[in-house]
Amino acid sequence: MTHDQAESLRRKIETSKNPKHAKTISFVSGKGGVGKSNIAVNFSLELSNQGKKVLLIDLDIGMGNVEILLGLQAKKTIVNMLQDFLPIYDIMEVGPNNLNYIAGGSGLTSLFSLDENKMNYFLEQYQSIVQSFDYIIFDMGAGATQASIEFVLASDECIVITTPEPTSITDAYSMIKHIISYKESMPIYLVLNRADNPKNGERTVARFQNVILQFLGVELKLLGILPEDKAVTAAVIEQAPFVIANNRSQIAKSIKRLVTHYTRQQEGVQANEASTFVDRLKNLLIHKGR
Ligand SMILES: Nc1ncnc2c1ncn2[C@@H]1O[C@H](COP(=O)(O)OP(=O)(O)OP(=O)(O)O)[C@@H](O)[C@H]1O
Ligand SMILES: [Mg+2]
Repeated sequence: MTHDQAESLRRKIETSKNPKHAKTISFVSGKGGVGKSNIAVNFSLELSNQGKKVLLIDLDIGMGNVEILLGLQAKKTIVNMLQDFLPIYDIMEVGPNNLNYIAGGSGLTSLFSLDENKMNYFLEQYQSIVQSFDYIIFDMGAGATQASIEFVLASDECIVITTPEPTSITDAYSMIKHIISYKESMPIYLVLNRADNPKNGERTVARFQNVILQFLGVELKLLGILPEDKAVTAAVIEQAPFVIANNRSQIAKSIKRLVTHYTRQQEGVQANEASTFVDRLKNLLIHKGR
């Protein structure tokens, strides 16, 4: 984004500030390649389509592919912002459905092990935009590592994606166990992706929810079951998100239902103004001794 474009985006976004803070949602998985990025992109696009102000941030630094899935090219990334201390508006892009997004970029060993100066800059920039969005969505890399776990824990909610494959389920279990070992109260939603049919999908989910309840004592809420659909691969190849380019596909219809289900659930929930993502992240980092 050019500086003039960034300035006009800043003005546009700032004039539409919310009184509340954005809700932050982390998309995570245990095993990689289960569909996190595709789901995060299409979920965000559909939320935007339903009138929400959404910012999608690619936190899979070095391996991010959000911009490819959106069919766009970001001029600047989080890595550029931190290297050159750029304002966050300079790295923000506007995608389809008015979705705002920020690319991760590459060349930074990790966003999650920054020196204090850079981390403070990141938090300051992040804080300056939280009132401008309803939702900020993080697409995390595979497996929240020890370093990135704080970003997940500081989020308001996290969405765990798994496929029905036993290896993916086992890794999702480990991830959930890991998250709740730090924060038992973390709201976690499950998405089962690539289900061969709804009946089998429901059975897999019920078994998984039982295991989680029995061994971890947590009620895992189901957000939705998404089908195996060739439209996903086609969308990746064409670099055209399926909720837009192929909105009659099974997967697009399922995502739309899932987003509607999600936003309905949210209607009764008040945003937590007392403690914000940035406060929580700072606390976690302080306790970690940074
Ligand atoms: N519902 C689906 N139906 C068919 N194919 C799918 C589906 N979901 C995902 N895929 C396939 O899986 C591939 C990986 O998806 P994606 O990149 O979204 O996974 P990821 O979890 O973000 O991976 P990583 O852990 O590497 O970030 C896609 O390119 C697509 O081919
Ligand atoms: Mg991904």
